[in-house]
Amino acid sequence: MCGIVGYIGNREIKSRLIEGLRELEYRGYDSAGIAVMREGRIESFKAVGKLSNLEEKTKDFSTKGPGLGIGHTRWATHGKPTELNAHPHMGEYSYVVHNGIIENYREIKEMLEKRGITFLSQTDTEVIVHLFELEAERYEDLFLAFKATIEQLDGAYAVLLITQKAPDTIFFARKGSPMIIGRSGSGEIFFASSDAPLIGEADEVAYMDDGTVGFVTSETLHAEPDSLCFVPLQGDKMTAQKGGYRFFMEKEIYEQYEVMSDTMIGRVLDEDIAFEEIDDAFVDGITRIKICACGTSYHAALTSSYLFERLSKIPVNVEIASEFRYKEPLLTDDTLFIVISQSGETADTLEALRMAKEAGLKTLAVCNVDNSSIVRMADATILTRAGIEKGVASTKAFATQVMVLWMLSLYFAKRRRSMEHDAIKDELRFMSYVPKVLQKSLEVHEKCKRLSKRYLHGHGFFFIGRDIFYPLALEGALKLKEISYLHAEGYPAGEMKHGPIALADAELFTIALMPKTLLYEKTKSNVEELSARDSTILSISPEMFDLADDFILTHPHNHPMLEFFEMMIVEQLLSMEIAIRLGNDVDMPRNLAKSVTVE
Ligand code: M6R
Repeated sequence: MCGIVGYIGNREIKSRLIEGLRELEYRGYDSAGIAVMREGRIESFKAVGKLSNLEEKTKDFSTKGPGLGIGHTRWATHGKPTELNAHPHMGEYSYVVHNGIIENYREIKEMLEKRGITFLSQTDTEVIVHLFELEAERYEDLFLAFKATIEQLDGAYAVLLITQKAPDTIFFARKGSPMIIGRSGSGEIFFASSDAPLIGEADEVAYMDDGTVGFVTSETLHAEPDSLCFVPLQGDKMTAQKGGYRFFMEKEIYEQYEVMSDTMIGRVLDEDIAFEEIDDAFVDGITRIKICACGTSYHAALTSSYLFERLSKIPVNVEIASEFRYKEPLLTDDTLFIVISQSGETADTLEALRMAKEAGLKTLAVCNVDNSSIVRMADATILTRAGIEKGVASTKAFATQVMVLWMLSLYFAKRRRSMEHDAIKDELRFMSYVPKVLQKSLEVHEKCKRLSKRYLHGHGFFFIGRDIFYPLALEGALKLKEISYLHAEGYPAGEMKHGPIALADAELFTIALMPKTLLYEKTKSNVEELSARDSTILSISPEMFDLADDFILTHPHNHPMLEFFEMMIVEQLLSMEIAIRLGNDVDMPRNLAKSVTVE
């Protein structure tokens, strides 16, 4: 989704802004723009499409000496992805960039139009800059004018505004959309929508609270409320780069065995699961669990519903957050409300969490981004520790979500005494094998690359599986469609005969998840039914299957979750190789955004 950057300092401004925006490309965008203060005058450039188009447009422009600027990547919500709709939006003498949605922009626009102001774009954002210039006629103090502007906005926003009337100042405000301010030892100031552009640039950062409004110059920083708390910024640029892989997605698939160890460290013990973030009191009185999430995180949630019910004997209900929020759900206070989100900024999930909080439920977030909106709102958070995930198609975030939820189901099992001590110990032992299994599973990459050439056409893919392999089938189908743009569906294997089997023919590709440790014979019968209708079958299994056209042989394991994680890697690699052969940008698939901050 949209990305914001801002910079005050002595280095060349344009390059700082464009480099910052490049670090935010993974969020998804369709146009970009910058506004730079040069000798007291603002110059602005915008381009539709990739950042290289903006670079081309600005190739003859540069700055020398101290200055400032703001930049933006836009993912269209109000109005098409055109140059006019791209940010920054301008007034007579000021420019603004904005993430989020101004819900009452129509009323404000109407009021401004009545006063003779002409709008150039179809965006909600443009009202901010005109409103500011109107307020600046009322208030001599420009910060008061900015504050008065922000007070009139309903909705979600992260806003940066610059004006020729205060050429050394960036005004900022945040509510509901993320924004971070950073500073370096040499006095530079940075703004960004996430850590990524700040790594290697800022020495310390402050994650703005909702409702923060302020201004900054190279000399002064003023925020209201005065709650900015600067902390050292961890991480280095290298870890945020591709490190020799063709795509971030590929790098992230390969990182999974390492990040999984991070996820488990200090939590998976010999005889217990320990979470620093929650204690026994937190789960006291909980007799049911409700989980809300979107996309891949929803698939992790669905997987966990099998684990919670099987291991902890606790009823679990899983809902897609965008459905949950409008269904007038019945919530009881013996329910633990869990939200799962990689980014921690997904608007639908955030709203579901807000509803649960308002209903007085205990809330727990399983999230990858510390200090994100979801983390701040939940009563407690278990961080998945996957590290920055840049590929829009989620891989390592999914793996670590499933792991945290598996751990959580054992945590409950122990506290609810639903499993014998030895059974818990066995489960923990299997858990500790996961990083090794993930590493070994990567051996299948070459086979996926070779096979991918046979799966570039056809009229559709069915990913099928049973039990926990059903959500994994859903995830496989989502991965493939996101990056290859081929039609794919995930189905419970036993459900095919109730309708979808009508589609079966040689051009229908069935990707069959056939684990040996769980319902093998049942799944096999379902695959045979498809094979009998001439569907092309690719079986993923530790056992050869005569009726399959192709197979990917997995390692034999004696726990379903080990088979699950190995098959997850196969799905990720296969989808990625198909998409690469089709010539797609797998890191930034069309129409998608990494962080979906609109509903
Ligand atoms: O950041 P979140 O986990 O809340 O995001 C939810 C979905 O938007 C996300 O999982 C999406 O489906 C991914 N593109 C999947 O690869």
